[in-house]
Amino acid sequence: MWSRFKALPSYFGGKRQLCPAIFRELSQFIPRDRWQNTTLVDGFCGGGAVSLYAKAQGMRVLANDLAERSKIVIDALIANDRVTICQEDIHRLFAVGPNGSRFVEEHFVPSMFMVKHARFIDGALSVTATVEHATKRQLLRLLLIRYMFAVTPYSQIHSVNYYQWIEDEAFHRLGMSRTKKVPYTCMHPLRILEAVAEQINKGVFPNGHRNEAHQRDVFDFLAQAEGDICYLDPPYAGAQAYEKFYEVLDQVLEQQVRPFEASPFNSEKAKELLARLLEATRKFRVVVVSYGSQRYSLEEFADTIRSVEPAADIRPVNFRYAIGSKSNQESLRKELLAVIHHG
Ligand SMILES: C[S@@+](CC[C@H](N)C(=O)[O-])C[C@H]1O[C@@H](n2cnc3c(N)ncnc32)[C@H](O)[C@@H]1O
Repeated sequence: MWSRFKALPSYFGGKRQLCPAIFRELSQFIPRDRWQNTTLVDGFCGGGAVSLYAKAQGMRVLANDLAERSKIVIDALIANDRVTICQEDIHRLFAVGPNGSRFVEEHFVPSMFMVKHARFIDGALSVTATVEHATKRQLLRLLLIRYMFAVTPYSQIHSVNYYQWIEDEAFHRLGMSRTKKVPYTCMHPLRILEAVAEQINKGVFPNGHRNEAHQRDVFDFLAQAEGDICYLDPPYAGAQAYEKFYEVLDQVLEQQVRPFEASPFNSEKAKELLARLLEATRKFRVVVVSYGSQRYSLEEFADTIRSVEPAADIRPVNFRYAIGSKSNQESLRKELLAVIHHG
C-alpha cells in the first residue's frame, strides 16, 4: 500500500486499492506530464483516498463530501499542505478543564466504548473545540477519529458486546479477528496518538496548488466546481447507508443524538440519481465513475450509464472491502469502473 494512505482513516467502501487503476485510465486521456496543470474534482471523497492520491500526482484537487467525518479528513490532508501535529498538541488533549463534555460517556457506554475510552474522548474533544487554528483543530479531530477506530474492532463503532466480553475476560467469545484490537484497548491513549500522529503528518504535503475542501450536496458542488476530471464514487444502492454505518461517529463529532437519514443514493432512486450525476458532469473532459450495487445488477447500471453516455467505456473491476467481518472470499466483489471522455 502507498505509504501516505496510512494518514487516512479506514473508510467503508474506500478506494485506496483502485487508485493505480483509476489514474492509469486517466493517463490515457491526459498525459502524466500535464497533471500539474490538471484539476480533479472528487464529488464523494469519503475517506479521501482518491483526492490524496491525485494531490500526490501533482493535480489540483477540489474534494467534497456531505459528511462532517469526511470534511475533517480533507481539511486536514487535502486543503492543508503544511500544518502538522506536534507533541504539545497531543499533550494538550489531556489538559481537560472542569467543563469538559460527558457526551460519549453518557450516550455510548457500555454499548460502544469502555468508560476509560469515553472519558478520554470526551475530554479530548472538548479540548479540540477550543483550538483556534482551524486546520490544527481538524488535524486533532482526525487524530481522535483514528483513536476511536484504533480501539474498536474492524474500525467500526458499533461493537456490540465487544467491551463487555473484554471486561468479563470472556476472550473465547471475541473471535480471532476481534482479539487483534484488545492490546489497543489496554494501551494508554498517548501511545496510540503518538503513533497515529506520525502517520497523519506524513500525509501533509504541498503540491504547488491551492487545493480545496467542500462539504455540500454533490449536485450543488458540481454546479459550481470547475475542473478537468470528475471522479464520482456515490454510495451504492442497497448497501448499508454511510449515515447508518457511521451513525455513532457522526453523533460524537456533532455532539448530539439524532436519528440518521440515509442518502437517497442508497435508495431505489439510485439509477435516476446516477443519470442526473452524469448530466451534471458533462462540462468535465473526463469523468470516472466507480459503481456497485447490492440491489441492481452491474449490467443494469451499465445500461443506465449508457443511456446518458453511449460512448462510456465500462468494465468490471475486482474490489475488496477494506472494512468488514466477511471472509476474504466474500468481501471480494465485482464493481464497475466507467470512464467517459468528452473530448
Ligand atoms: C463510496 S463513499 C466514497 C468513498 C471514497 N471514494 C473513498 O475512497 O474513501 C460515498 C460517500 O458519499 C457521501 N455522500 C452521500 N450522499 C452524498 C451527497 N448527496 N453529496 C455528497 N456526498 C454524499 C458519503 O458521506 C460517503 O462518504
